[in-house]
Amino acid sequence: MSKTKVASKNKTAKLTIDNKSVFLPIYHSTEGESVIDITNLHSEANVFTYDPGFTSTASCESKITFIDGNKGILRYRGYDIEELAKKSDFIEVVNLLIYGDLPNKAQLKKYKQLISRHTLLHDQIINFFQGFRRDAHPMAMMVGVMGALSSFYQDSLDINDAHQRQEATRRIIAKASTIGAMAYKYSIGQSFVSPKNNLSFSENFLHMCFSNTAEEYKISPILAKAMDTIFILHADHEQNASTSTVRLAGSSGANPFACIAAGVSSLWGPAHGGANQAALEMLEEIGTSKNIQKYLKKAKSKKDPFKLMGFGHRVYKNYDPRAKILKNICQKVLKHTGIKNDPILKLAMDLEKIALNDKYFIEKKLYPNVDFYSGIILKAIGFPPEMFTVIFAISRTAGWTAQWTEMIEDPIQKIGRPRQLYTGNKHHKYGYKRSKKNTR
Ligand code: ACO
Repeated sequence: MSKTKVASKNKTAKLTIDNKSVFLPIYHSTEGESVIDITNLHSEANVFTYDPGFTSTASCESKITFIDGNKGILRYRGYDIEELAKKSDFIEVVNLLIYGDLPNKAQLKKYKQLISRHTLLHDQIINFFQGFRRDAHPMAMMVGVMGALSSFYQDSLDINDAHQRQEATRRIIAKASTIGAMAYKYSIGQSFVSPKNNLSFSENFLHMCFSNTAEEYKISPILAKAMDTIFILHADHEQNASTSTVRLAGSSGANPFACIAAGVSSLWGPAHGGANQAALEMLEEIGTSKNIQKYLKKAKSKKDPFKLMGFGHRVYKNYDPRAKILKNICQKVLKHTGIKNDPILKLAMDLEKIALNDKYFIEKKLYPNVDFYSGIILKAIGFPPEMFTVIFAISRTAGWTAQWTEMIEDPIQKIGRPRQLYTGNKHHKYGYKRSKKNTR
């Protein structure tokens, strides 16, 4: 990646500490907020910045994804998510994220072949699966097997070799869907189903999950399109927790499979990718629209840890554009699967309406996020809640590998090493010290 940071003409930030002024360059983004470069702050003023949760920190320069949280805009490489969801398919979006622009027909055909040639897993990975408890969460298998790929594909571990980087990226994207499907099959006690390379990425995933040795799964074009749209919508989301985890892991020079396994781990949490499972479980717990007020009261209470899952976002202070697309698909999928008047969808829509008119949610700008409707769609397709985050992880391999590649190719890339505000003990002599606070 070329160094393209542009300092604002005649514009610097001035920071004065104890009568000493430090001038910090300001860089323009092509869209969105400008940033203040604090790289030299410590060497010039001997202070660090303090920003838990990185609420005001840009951790890198990136050209991949743009979000305007106030307007509810999401773009991959400059293309609106709404247009990509309508006109592209997942592999085209993967190609866009990784290479920077939409491929032409011939390039796309070749790329689809390259990805599909990597869907098979080394046969010994089957033995690896046997080591998991039968009731293991599929995300546990996803984390473990993704990391284990480093031991199976040792010819694509050299991060300084551009060819090996590309090979690792294709392997990760192609094999993630096979691993996800195997994790599902293992959890329900069925034999693994081999990938079929004549199918599209999404059709193949449905085939590997729902065909079995006795019966071929008949793929519905409506469900395959819904699956593909879910993959597109989750493909990247700039510097979120899991992507930042991948970048931080990769900044030490760790191999790509290990970095992606770190990203899968970070995604698993209920405040991030685990929210789709949590949102559906929450709707099932609420049960009926009559209980909405009771649960809203819990969500608003400072004393209660309960949060409205699938609501709120660090960046979106408006309707998440992905949730809008999914709400529409949700209705189509439920109609197609013959689930008329689904009580959970009705409850979700009632909850959304009531929350969006509630003072607390209006004031805090809490809107439905991508996880609010995705679980209802995935359940209608036939997936159990434990698979929702796995599906999120499969799609996010696109963004993670694109971001990881961008980081490795960034000439100013260095190991990520934040500092801290130390509030521990001052130096004291070695020896037992009775402390009321030490309750261990
Ligand atoms: N329900 C009730 N209150 C909420 C919710 C919610 N879902 N989300 C935020 N709030 C409140 C917070 O309690 C906080 O209140 P306060 O100002 O009185 O302390 C205020 O809104 C701001 O919220 P923060 O948690 O500070 O916002 P942050 O940016 O740190 O967190 C997050 C964003 C983690 C997504 C949060 O909204 C949340 O936990 N939502 C539920 C989980 C969820 O849906 N996660 C998926 C996110 S999308 C994704 O990762 C794909």
